[in-house]
Amino acid sequence: MTDRFGRTIRYLRLSVTDRCDLRCVYCMAEDMRFVPRRDLLTLEELDRLASTFVARGVNKIRITGGEPLVRKDILTLFRSLSRHLQGGALKELTLTTNGTQLANHAEALAAAGVKRVNVSLDTLDADRFRLLTRRGQLGAVMDGLRAAREAGLKVKLNAVALKGITETEIFDLIDFAHGRGMDLTLIETMPLGDVGADRTDQYLPLTELRRLIERRLTLVDTSERSGGPARYTRVAETGGRVGFITPMTHNFCESCNRVRVSATGILYTCLGQEERTDLRSALRGSESDDLLNAAIACAIELKPKGHDFAIGPDQRPSLGRHMSALGG
Ligand code: GTP
Ligand code: 5AD
Ligand code: SF4
Repeated sequence: MTDRFGRTIRYLRLSVTDRCDLRCVYCMAEDMRFVPRRDLLTLEELDRLASTFVARGVNKIRITGGEPLVRKDILTLFRSLSRHLQGGALKELTLTTNGTQLANHAEALAAAGVKRVNVSLDTLDADRFRLLTRRGQLGAVMDGLRAAREAGLKVKLNAVALKGITETEIFDLIDFAHGRGMDLTLIETMPLGDVGADRTDQYLPLTELRRLIERRLTLVDTSERSGGPARYTRVAETGGRVGFITPMTHNFCESCNRVRVSATGILYTCLGQEERTDLRSALRGSESDDLLNAAIACAIELKPKGHDFAIGPDQRPSLGRHMSALGG
């Protein structure tokens, strides 16, 4: 699948729920209204949809949310999609998780063919974790990380760069990650959805954070990529990698290789634009995949050139929908 700007789409981010057991301050408001469960695609529909994308050339699937591990029986989906790994069409089946339930699922995920997981972790301080997530326990994530390593999963930590917080913890986060053989990826906050706070107060440009890191550590740019938007550097002192995801200061839309499907079956060809295609109707409208294939082909053709996110004193959330509604 190649769009009109010559970008080939090989990466599907498939959201299986918009729910989450946490309420991170940059992602959700305190009071969230979630999609009624009856509107979600069933596990069978998710499988059919993902398999259609694989048949069309997608070779990397990331299961996302909300928090994917809060979806009941989600391991069934991993197990059934793993047939595409065995068949060779799929190179990677993976997930992004907040880690709170990872301890219960790490072994089963590894057995289903998952090789690595991305775990969101913005702080190593238990009290601050509680404040940032509004309800989480850091200990559960630590247990999850341990279980993942014991199950042989490679882990990448994702930390959203937050003004007044990440500056004070960045060296601890690097030590923590690299001391355990994990990459650390830093992410600029994106203005998606109303979070009941002013994003200008949260936003920390990664150009600034990088300068701060470089006061103590040597970052060597690499051309290594993980198939996602991060640009990686290697820290000479630790040997580990720090990735930078910079949608705000240095956008990467030109090399975009991905699309997203929400838990209700809406295809978004860009995280930051309104374009959407209802694949649930196509799925439910016919037992043959012709309708679905036609809808996907048409949407890819119209994939927007890029996002135009902005954060500033007079900027409202540039899109009303939350990150958790469309798979991070
Ligand atoms: P890897 O496979 O490890 O490269 O993962 P990834 O970076 O593709 O996935 P992950 O779920 O860890 O996403 C990290 C951050 O990148 C999240 O905040 C995503 O929302 C953001 N992200 C991923 N793709 C895009 C994109 O196309 N545009 C923008 N603006 N952000 C993206
Ligand atoms: N901007 C940037 N990253 C975000 N995430 C959630 N909301 C936002 C936002 N508004 C991150 C999570 C997780 C990843 C999937 O997206 O922390 O690591
Ligand atoms: Fe949940 Fe992830 Fe959003 Fe935090 S960032 S509230 S863990 S979906």
